[in-house]
Parts: sequence; structure tokens; C-alpha cells
Amino acid sequence: MNAGPQVVRAAVDAVVAWARSGRSVRDVIAANVALRQASGALRAQVSALATAAVTLAIRHEFLLAGDDGLRGLSAPARGEALVLAAAVANGAWAPEDAAAAFAAVHRSTLPFAALTAPAAAFALNASPERAFAREHSVPEWFATAALQAFGEQAAAVARALSQPAPRTLRANLLVVRDRAELVAELAAAGIATRAATYAATALHVDGDVDLFATGAYARGAFEQQDEASQVAVAAVAPPPGGKVLDLCAGNGGKTLALAAALRNRGQVLATDVHLGRLQGLRERLRRARADNVQVAAIGEHDWPEPVRTFAANADRILIDAPCSGTGSWRRRPEGRHAIDAVSLRKLVATQDDLLRRAAAVLRPGARLCYATCSLLPTENEARIDALCAADSGLERVRMVEVLGGAFGRSVADATGTFLVLRPDRHGCDGFFLAILRRR
Ligand SMILES: C[S@@+](CC[C@H](N)C(=O)[O-])C[C@H]1O[C@@H](n2cnc3c(N)ncnc32)[C@H](O)[C@@H]1O
Repeated sequence: MNAGPQVVRAAVDAVVAWARSGRSVRDVIAANVALRQASGALRAQVSALATAAVTLAIRHEFLLAGDDGLRGLSAPARGEALVLAAAVANGAWAPEDAAAAFAAVHRSTLPFAALTAPAAAFALNASPERAFAREHSVPEWFATAALQAFGEQAAAVARALSQPAPRTLRANLLVVRDRAELVAELAAAGIATRAATYAATALHVDGDVDLFATGAYARGAFEQQDEASQVAVAAVAPPPGGKVLDLCAGNGGKTLALAAALRNRGQVLATDVHLGRLQGLRERLRRARADNVQVAAIGEHDWPEPVRTFAANADRILIDAPCSGTGSWRRRPEGRHAIDAVSLRKLVATQDDLLRRAAAVLRPGARLCYATCSLLPTENEARIDALCAADSGLERVRMVEVLGGAFGRSVADATGTFLVLRPDRHGCDGFFLAILRRR
């Protein structure tokens, strides 16, 4: 029942590389030359184990070593402890085998059997926030925010954030007619998929199959994209032939979906302050056969004249804002260890700045769409409230108006105003989208 030694070793290397460099687990695995030559299935197993190790690090460090965690251990020993702990937690290793494997290499013992401790262990000498943080392997600042925002549902949210993320694709409607055509093409290649619930373009893939080795990928028939982002693009709803400014385009996940939503007509201007990401976007545009996208670098405090002119004429300005990423911790587990109260304050300041700048150029009738993959009200509703309090010319466009009554309500907050997706309710990443219209 043990995960193979090759998988454990590669996962340990990935966790150690993450701990030393701060790079994401995904990036360190992608950069591993030996793994690049391995099968897609093996890479997927390594990725799953390393992701689980980083996801559950806070919980497992507490269970193995108390409140001081594994601080006394070297980076390789800590990485090994976390990977073996994740393998014990998912049932792949027996605690005594993990203890023996750890002792054989590091000549010290760790109580892997303690990983099955009952929930009461987390509450020992701890405030409710600290007990929640230990149990759900989240930082204490997030435990406090989640308990405040979600009350009795906070545990369900945190549990969902610790589950593996589904593998979700977006059918690229610039290449395939509809999702069904992609489903049939993948089925012919022996790949089973399931239609997703909320986005008409989304489908889930079970198992470890190497999707990037398929003919469908080579001809640009799909992109990997969480369902939440696909629903968000449907809600941005660019008008046929319209103009969209994608202000924080990154390497283009939403840009490509917007280009497809416009059926290659109209215009998308994709901007970002990060040149490397924009380069990645240019490469993705070619494969996806998107012809209606221009790309431009912008400064944090300064947009070139053509970008300002485009913004002033745009039908939609999308701000897919830099954020805590708390909603996507399933895919980016290192986020749990990277954000703190100080970095969160900086992110909020950037969000306010982006909103103010975009609102200042938004023409009457046009829509400002503000998105985050955050679960925190302070990055979401609070930012919109602050902007609308300062700018009375903006009105909220309700999600039920944009997406239709029953469907809109199924993906909106209790008032039907904002798009609010949650991993525990919708199975996709946590996501927020507000739409504002200039009167
Ligand atoms: C959430 S990511 C965007 C993800 C992307 N839209 C996608 O769908 O793949 C946020 C992006 O905002 C960019 N960013 C940060 N500060 C910015 C600013 N002041 N102006 C424009 N972009 C900014 C970051 O470089 C990052 O690429």
C-alpha cells in the first residue's frame, strides 16, 4: 500500500525546494528535469503527495512536534517528515512504516501514530482560533477571518480547501464547436470526462492521464481552467463585438476565455505589470487561435496613453486583482504559508488603487468587473463598498440580472448581488466577482 519510493523521494525534493526557494510546488515540480522525463501519471502522483504535504504542514507539524513544529529539523528532514505524514494521512503508508523509514535516514524518531489524534487534541491549551488553525492546517489570521466570515460553516470551508482540486478543462470554442465535441474527442483518445455543473464550457477529468500529450491539447481544443474562472467570464459577458480591457491579465487564463466568449470578434486588450507573465500569454494566444487580443505592459502607477484611450472606450474593464489566493489554496498550497497580516494589507491597498484608477476612466454604461480568488470579505465586498461610498456614479449590477434568476441565485451571495463561489458549496475554487456600472 506504500506510495513508491520514487514518488516519495521526488515529493520530498519538491517540498524541500519549496521551503528553500519559496517557489510554488507546481513550479518546482515543472522544473524537475528527471520528472519531466517521467510518465504523466508519476508526475501527477508526486504533485498530489507534495501538495498534500504542504497543505497539511501546519496540522502535521503540530501533531508530530507540538506548537514548536519541526523547527529543530534540517530542511530535508522536515520535508521528509511532511511527505511521510501526508502519505500516512491519505492511507498510503502505515504510521509504523513511516516512522521506520524516517528513522532509517535521519536517525531520530517522530510519532507518526499521533497523526490519527482525535479533534480534541487540537483544542488543548488553545483559543478557538488556534485550535481551528491547527486542525485545518491554516494560519491563525485565516482561522480568525474564516470564523468571523463563515461562522458555523467555517469548518466545512476549511475542510474543502484541504481536499485535492478537481482537474477541470475549458473547451476552447475558437477550436471546438461546443463542450460535447471536446468530450467526444477526448473519449476517442480513451480519456473519460464529466460535464461540470455551473459553466457550460467546463468539464472535469478523473485520473492521472497526461492531457498535454493529447492531440486535442496540441490543436488548442482546451485549456486547464477552474470552473469558477469560467463562470466569472460568463458573468463578465462581453457584448458581441465589444471591447474588453483585461487589466491584470497575468498569463492569460481569463484573457483566453474572454477572446473565446467574443468568438474572436471585438477586441481584448490584455495588460499586466509583470512582463514574464505577458510573454506566457502571447504563447498561449497562438495555440488557442485567439486573434482578437492585443497585449501591453503597464506600470503600477502609470498606464501608457493607448491603454488609457482603450479603457475610456471599453465596454468592460476586468480587474482580476492580485489577492491572498485563499480560494485557490487547493491548487496553490504554499499560499497558506506565504500571506500574513502585513502582506494582506498591501494587497488591499493595491486592490483599492486598481479599482479607483479603473473607475476613473469607466465610461457611462460600461461595466467594471472586479474579481478575486479570495474568500475574505475584506478583499471582496469591503473593497466594493469602499469604492461605491467614494464614487456615487457607480451602481452594482446584480448577478441575478446578469446570469438569470435561478442560475444567478445558485452562484450568488444571499442577496443575489455578487458572484460568490465556494469550494464547499460549488466544488470549484473560492471566487468573488462584483459588477459595477457607471450611471
Ligand atoms: C490573479 S492574477 C491574474 C490572473 C489572470 N487574470 C488569469 O486569469 O490567469 C493577478 C495579476 O495582477 C497583476 N498585477 C499586480 N499589480 C498590478 C497592477 N498594479 N496593475 C496591473 N496588474 C497588476 C499580477 O502581476 C498578476 O499577474
